[in-house]
Amino acid sequence: MSTPLLVFDDVVCGYGDTMMLRGLAGAVGTGRVLAVLGRNGVGKTTLMRALSGFLPLQRGRVMLAGRDLARVPPQQRLAAGMAYAPQEGVVFGDLSVRENLWLHLRSRDGQRYGACLEAFPRLAERMQQSAGLLSGGERKLLSFTRTLGLRAPLSILDEPTEGVQPENIERMARLVRARKAEGASFVIVEQNLEFLLSVADDVLAIDHGECSLAGPASELTRETLEAHLVV
Ligand SMILES: Nc1ncnc2c1ncn2[C@@H]1O[C@H](COP(=O)(O)OP(=O)(O)O)[C@@H](O)[C@H]1O
Ligand SMILES: [Mg+2]
Repeated sequence: MSTPLLVFDDVVCGYGDTMMLRGLAGAVGTGRVLAVLGRNGVGKTTLMRALSGFLPLQRGRVMLAGRDLARVPPQQRLAAGMAYAPQEGVVFGDLSVRENLWLHLRSRDGQRYGACLEAFPRLAERMQQSAGLLSGGERKLLSFTRTLGLRAPLSILDEPTEGVQPENIERMARLVRARKAEGASFVIVEQNLEFLLSVADDVLAIDHGECSLAGPASELTRETLEAHLVV
């Protein structure tokens, strides 16, 4: 295998004096999806914040395309090719859906969001509406759409399917696979086993701040994965 797009190792971080992650390591190849699993509160979101730059590391490396970004602020990580859809607080409620999509972008190329808006017509219909009127699941779709539209080499998605309707979860999986086919890579925290199985190439499970399972998704049984998802 060629050098992975993202390599992180010896990641130690947490809140105050409590280290939630105690030396985690992982890698994501080009055009591949790393699924991150674990019970509630094990530190999945903490790892996503550490990778995207919203939480400082006590120790460790976060290498994207050979460059160590571990001490680089979030905006520069984004510029380097790392997009991030956080688990919560993802949408500006007092802006319209359209404004949420275009706010952070200089050029308005209409193609950017085409595939997602085709897949989620309810979102497309509600462009002018205040995003604050969207349901929790619809906000997740908006955040997913905004992140995929960045067309970043690496996208970090923290529980993208939380609260989303099953038919839209299937469409999300299709959109992720389409981006993979174009060479895009993903780190996805996921609890939904069907979604996970339909997109993941590799799996990393966390327990007690350490890796409790890692390997190609194809070599892990459903039962093994379920056991690491148990809330
Ligand atoms: N801002 C914070 N300050 C202090 N503790 C936090 C903070 N955010 C999360 N935690 C704690 O860190 C642990 C891991 O949280 P998190 O990474 O959100 O878990 P997960 O995403 O796996 O459910 C939990 O015990 C949580 O209570
Ligand atoms: Mg979380």
